Amino acid sequence: MIILKNERDLEAMRPACAVAGTVLEEVAAFVQPGLTTKDVDDFAASRIKHYNAKSAFLGYRKYPCQICISVNDQVVHGLAGQRTMRFGDIVSLDVGVIYNGFVGDTARTVAVGGCDVLAQRLMDVTEKALHEGIAQAVGGKRVGDISRAVQDHVESNGFTVVREFVGHGVGRSMHEEPQVPNFVDGKSSPKLRPGMTLAIEPMVNAGSSAVKILNDGWTVVTQDGSLSAHFEHTVLITEAEPEILTWPEKVPSRLKVP
Ligand code: MF3
Ligand code: CO
Ligand code: CO
Repeated sequence: MIILKNERDLEAMRPACAVAGTVLEEVAAFVQPGLTTKDVDDFAASRIKHYNAKSAFLGYRKYPCQICISVNDQVVHGLAGQRTMRFGDIVSLDVGVIYNGFVGDTARTVAVGGCDVLAQRLMDVTEKALHEGIAQAVGGKRVGDISRAVQDHVESNGFTVVREFVGHGVGRSMHEEPQVPNFVDGKSSPKLRPGMTLAIEPMVNAGSSAVKILNDGWTVVTQDGSLSAHFEHTVLITEAEPEILTWPEKVPSRLKVP
């Protein structure tokens, strides 16, 4: 069952998503060479607390960290720890918060200080693929229109989309129906209707699309060791332009850092 949000729901969900988007920007700006991923997770904890929100990830299926931090060949669900980030690494940051009883879910990949041209192109193509997908997120179209737009942009640029993890509906729960794959499989998919809120989230590999899970039970890595990037926004389907709920500038000024 796909849960449609009414205006009252959205009044509560918009600030939740704004907090997620703002915390993600703050954490992205904090990343620099020499810090450990635990330093970044601790900083995220302090920013989430600052907005009186809670991590949507900590404790979810026993997930042990505030946010997901995935370095280089790590695709998603990386665990914070004593690993030091080095100049040239790329780091995927995924922030999910609960606020007003709703979840906002958003991610981006950033370079640590700077990175080489391949890594930069991977990040650019993944972010553009997300926005190509968002452009299809309009009432009357189908989930498969989002999937196709993402896949086409990624594959026409020589990269691959991960199959094992997908985008999703999001609302009072982090993972609601429908699934939003980053590839098409020929099957018919749900029609998009105003009031649907979707997390669209391409995970893109520089090499093969194959992934595996490390022995920690969480960290997803590329099988071939190639770099991976991840961008995600929570969006509201309307009859016209989609509303990107996790856009950081949407944070109400009363929530802004002084
Ligand atoms: N935020 C992830 C997603 O986009 C889910 C993370 S689940 C966790 O769907 F347990 F790893 F936090
Ligand atoms: Co996410
Ligand atoms: Co998500």
